[in-house]
Amino acid sequence: MASQSTTNPPRFSIPDSIRYLFREQRLLFVLVGISIAALISNVVFLPDSSPHISDHDHDHDSFHVAESTSLPRRRAYELHADHHNLGGRIPLGLKAKSMRVLVTGGSGFVGSHLVDRLMARGDTVIVVDNFFTGRKDNLLHHLRNPRFELIRHDVVEPILLEVDQIYHLACPASPVHYKYNPFAAFIWVMFGILDGYRDHKTNVVGTLNMLGLAKRINARFLLTSTSEVYGDPLEHPQVETYWGNVNPIGVRSCYDEGKRVAETLTMDYHRGLNIEVRIARIFNTYGPRMCLDDGRVVSNFVAQALRKEPMTVYGDGKQTRSFQYVSDLVEGLMRLMEGEHVGPFNLGNPGEFTMLELAKVVQDTIDPTAKIEFRPNTEDDPHKRKPDITRAMELLGWQPVVPLREGLPLMVSDFRQRIFGDAKEGDSTTSTFSSV
Ligand SMILES: NC(=O)c1ccc[n+]([C@@H]2O[C@H](COP(=O)([O-])OP(=O)(O)OC[C@H]3O[C@@H](n4cnc5c(N)ncnc54)[C@H](O)[C@@H]3O)[C@@H](O)[C@H]2O)c1
Repeated sequence: MASQSTTNPPRFSIPDSIRYLFREQRLLFVLVGISIAALISNVVFLPDSSPHISDHDHDHDSFHVAESTSLPRRRAYELHADHHNLGGRIPLGLKAKSMRVLVTGGSGFVGSHLVDRLMARGDTVIVVDNFFTGRKDNLLHHLRNPRFELIRHDVVEPILLEVDQIYHLACPASPVHYKYNPFAAFIWVMFGILDGYRDHKTNVVGTLNMLGLAKRINARFLLTSTSEVYGDPLEHPQVETYWGNVNPIGVRSCYDEGKRVAETLTMDYHRGLNIEVRIARIFNTYGPRMCLDDGRVVSNFVAQALRKEPMTVYGDGKQTRSFQYVSDLVEGLMRLMEGEHVGPFNLGNPGEFTMLELAKVVQDTIDPTAKIEFRPNTEDDPHKRKPDITRAMELLGWQPVVPLREGLPLMVSDFRQRIFGDAKEGDSTTSTFSSV
C-alpha cells in the first residue's frame, strides 16, 4: 500500500503550473511557437474561400468558365489559385496584394486588350461576360494564370464580387448586334422596368447593377460610353461640353440613348452616393479581335476585301469618322481610371477620314483591285465624327500614337488568320503599340 501512494499522479495545481511556465523562459518559447504556427497556417494551410464546382474543374487542359446568375451565389473559381488565395488577409511581412479589377465585357474586342494590359501590370483580373459578342478565344492565354478569373454572367443579373476597380464595358456595341436585339441593348445599358419599381436597386440592370456593386464594395467605376451620345452632331469636332443631337426614337437610339442614360446614372451615383466614377466617350476603335461581321465599317471593309467581296459604302461615302487603334484606347482608359478626373473624356483619334478614304487605305493594305459598292445610307447615320481630345491631352496626358496606316495591317493580319486559318503572317492578336 505504501508503494501505491508513490505511484499516485501529482495533483494539478494552478500556481504550480504558472511557476513552471515562468521558469527558464518557457512562456517566451510558447508565445514564439504560437506566432510561428499562426503565420504558417495563414500562408500555407488557409483553405481557398472560392467555392469549387466539381473535381473536373481541375482539368486545366480544357476551357473553364464559371457561371453565375444570381446574388449572392457565385460559382466561380480561379485556375491554379487554390493555394494562393489568402482569403483577403495579408500576413505580416508579405507585400500587399495587387489591384483586383473587374472587367465586364472583358472577352470582347476592347475588353480583352484591356485585360492583357491589366494582367501585364500584375493585377488580379476578373472578367464577367455572357459571350453575346465576346469570344472565349480572346482570353485563352490567361486561363492558366492564377491572377485571372472568368465568369459567365449576364450583367442584367446582380453579382457580388470583391474588387477595387470596375471597368464596365459589357454592352452589345456593334450596330448588327444592337439592332438585332435592340431591347436587350437598351436594357443592358439603362434601367429596365421589368418587375416594377421597389427601390433604387431593384429597378436597375446592367450599368445600374455595376454601379450598385461599386457602391457596395466601395470600388472605383469606369463607364465606357460612346461618341454616339453626340448623335448626328451639329458641332464639329465634338467637345465633351456638347450635349449632342440624338434622335430618341430612331433605330440607333437604343444604343445612343441607352449610353446617355448610363452616363446619367453614373453621375447620379457619383453626386448622390459619392461613388468614385470615370466616364470615357469612345470613338470608333479598330484592331485585332474585332468581330468579323459586326457591321462596323473598318471590320466590314477588311473582311470584305480579304474575301474578295466588294466593300459596301453606305450613302455617298463622304461621311467622316476617326479611327483609333485599340492599344491607344486601352492606354486612355487606364489613365482615366488611375487619374483624378471624372470626365467625361473623349477617347479617339482626331485623324478624320471619309469612308472613301478609308476604303482606299484598305485597298492599299489588302488588295488594290478591291471594288467598292454603294448602298443607300442607313437611318440616322452621323455625317461627321471627330473627337476634340484637348481635355484628355491636358488632364490625362494622353493622345493616340498609332496612325491608321500602321494599325490597320495588324488588324488585317489577325482577320486573315481567322478567316483563312492562315498563321503565316504571325499572330497579331496582341496590342503591339502603346501610347503616351
Ligand atoms: N469598339 C468601339 O469602336 C467602341 C466605340 C464606342 C464605345 N465602345 C464601347 O466599348 C465597350 C466595348 O466595346 P467592344 O467594341 O469591345 O464591343 P464587343 O461587342 O466586342 O464587347 C462587348 C462585350 O460585352 C459582352 N456583353 C454584352 N452584353 C453583356 C451582358 N448583358 N452581360 C455580360 N456581358 C455582356 C459581350 O459578350 C462582349 O464580350 C462597349 O461598352 C461599347 O459600347 C466601343
